[in-house]
Amino acid sequence: MTEQSDAPAGDAMVRAEGVHKSYGLVEVLKGIDLQVRPREVFCLVGPSGSGKSTFLRCINHLEKINAGRLWVDGELVGYRQKGEKLYELRDREVAVKRRDIGMVFQRFNLFPHMTAVENVMEAPVQVKKRSKGEARDQAMALLERVGMADKARNYPSQLSGGQQQRVAIARALAMQPKLMLFDEPTSALDPELVGEVLDVMRGLAEEGMTMIVVTHEMGFAREVGDALVFMDDGVVVESGSPREVLANPRHERTKAFLSKVL
Ligand SMILES: Nc1ncnc2c1ncn2[C@@H]1O[C@H](COP(=O)(O)OP(=O)(O)OP(=O)(O)O)[C@@H](O)[C@H]1O
Ligand SMILES: [Mg+2]
Repeated sequence: MTEQSDAPAGDAMVRAEGVHKSYGLVEVLKGIDLQVRPREVFCLVGPSGSGKSTFLRCINHLEKINAGRLWVDGELVGYRQKGEKLYELRDREVAVKRRDIGMVFQRFNLFPHMTAVENVMEAPVQVKKRSKGEARDQAMALLERVGMADKARNYPSQLSGGQQQRVAIARALAMQPKLMLFDEPTSALDPELVGEVLDVMRGLAEEGMTMIVVTHEMGFAREVGDALVFMDDGVVVESGSPREVLANPRHERTKAFLSKVL
């Protein structure tokens, strides 16, 4: 990506234009175009290997794109623009930007040697240099919000998967992100624990958090989602309102996929 950037991102929280990503000779993203608006719940669905996680990793500056343009909140991911020129950001600058984006994975990735509340306090204390007292108060409020205040002193091994995932969400929120990325946050959970995590996500959506959610939970997509994109083999096959796409998929590939997950 060496040309100048002339297209501003407008009021989009995320905007992708012709985003390509390859690993060696394997092209994983083959030109992704999409737009996520502020306060939107944007659902990303598609078969295994279609590039969903890779795309999230590009948004979060964990992967460099090979071609196209990607903006988060009006700023080019990985680059700084000065006049007509683009300069690649240094690792330190990338890390600073990444703080504004919360990420929740399929596996909860909590620090095993820290209690729930310590997990949530960690980044504000280490990265934002908050005092421990202030960080603990904020962490307790967040644990309250995800229904985990009574387990604040438990270690991850003493929590169920659904509880760990709710702590992971609180931990991401502790950095006050402007965007939350969820990569199949419920797919490692026992079925009876899925609802409690989706409820927390629904609450976040109601509070106006901008969220990109990779999920196979089509009920959630239909009820909470504002937009849905179906990806296959590194391209956006179709997109629209979740109700529309789920009820009337237009493409064979979407139909085939939905017949397996609905
Ligand atoms: N670091 C990497 N190096 C090489 N290939 C990779 C790398 N990461 C992903 N891939 C390949 O890119 C393709 C897309 O992977 P990705 O994880 O983005 O798919 P996905 O849609 O998230 O799938 P799933 O639903 O299984 O999570 C896969 O073929 C994968 O093998
Ligand atoms: Mg994935």
